Amino acid sequence: MFPNNSSKQLEMCDELPFWSAPFGIKLLDKIKYKTDISCLDIGFGTGFPIIEIAQRLGNSCKIYGIDPSDDFINHTAKKIENLKLNNVNLLKGFAENIPLYDNSIDLISSNNGINNVFDLNKVFSECSRILKKGGQFVFTMNTNLTMIEFYLEFEKTLSELKMFDEINKLKEHINCKRPPIALVSNLLSSHNFVINSIEYDNFNYKFADINSMLNHNFIKSAFINSWIDLLPESKVMEVFQLVLEKVEIQLKMFGEIKLSIPFVTIDCFQN
Ligand SMILES: C[S@@+](CC[C@H](N)C(=O)[O-])C[C@H]1O[C@@H](n2cnc3c(N)ncnc32)[C@H](O)[C@@H]1O
Repeated sequence: MFPNNSSKQLEMCDELPFWSAPFGIKLLDKIKYKTDISCLDIGFGTGFPIIEIAQRLGNSCKIYGIDPSDDFINHTAKKIENLKLNNVNLLKGFAENIPLYDNSIDLISSNNGINNVFDLNKVFSECSRILKKGGQFVFTMNTNLTMIEFYLEFEKTLSELKMFDEINKLKEHINCKRPPIALVSNLLSSHNFVINSIEYDNFNYKFADINSMLNHNFIKSAFINSWIDLLPESKVMEVFQLVLEKVEIQLKMFGEIKLSIPFVTIDCFQN
């Protein structure tokens, strides 16, 4: 692939987190690429898609990224240095308070970053403030039906055990991480955005058995702790045993475990 494959080039080859890819393909396709524009990417994580966007837009453009995590900033800065990109500026901070001037940005992107903020209303207000009139705001997020196959069994188990407070917590957790798309679009309208399109897509995480699902690094690092946190410590083992028994039945019926990941790509502009 690379005739003179240096370690830096090899590092860049497996740069993309698998989880982010299906969302990112849609997002990158929706962006209107132009010269001489300024762009902000919200929640750039390990550098995706900000690095891709920076390369596609080129040197006449200025690309900012905002993320609160020092680890992500250091990691992404190293990649930017490896690639010798000089059109990117990483900002440490929260999208609820963006350190950029009013009407200064032509394009805002976010791949699964928007649904990780703590105050969506404030973030949209900030996006509206910094985006120029006619500027594009495009983002992806997974919907509240994410991993519905697992969450239904979780809720059924809590209901059987009469753990009604925990059912409410579970619903709140989903609502907060993955707000209904109707709510997101109303909020966008209230901040002067006009929606061009909302496109729905889906991909599946499939596993051979329960152990492979529970041991999968992404499930472990991004989901399991948030599920455990919904339960009193004394109930964790009991609840999980029952949920997993129910998932096992699905496995017997269908021969595999499937967790569906529905998501949307929302493309809008500043009115
Ligand atoms: C699911 S990751 C997505 C990362 C990357 N865009 C990707 O596609 O792989 C969410 C990112 O949002 C960042 N984040 C969380 N809260 C944020 C906030 N309030 N403002 C900006 N970024 C935030 C996290 O640090 C993390 O990098």
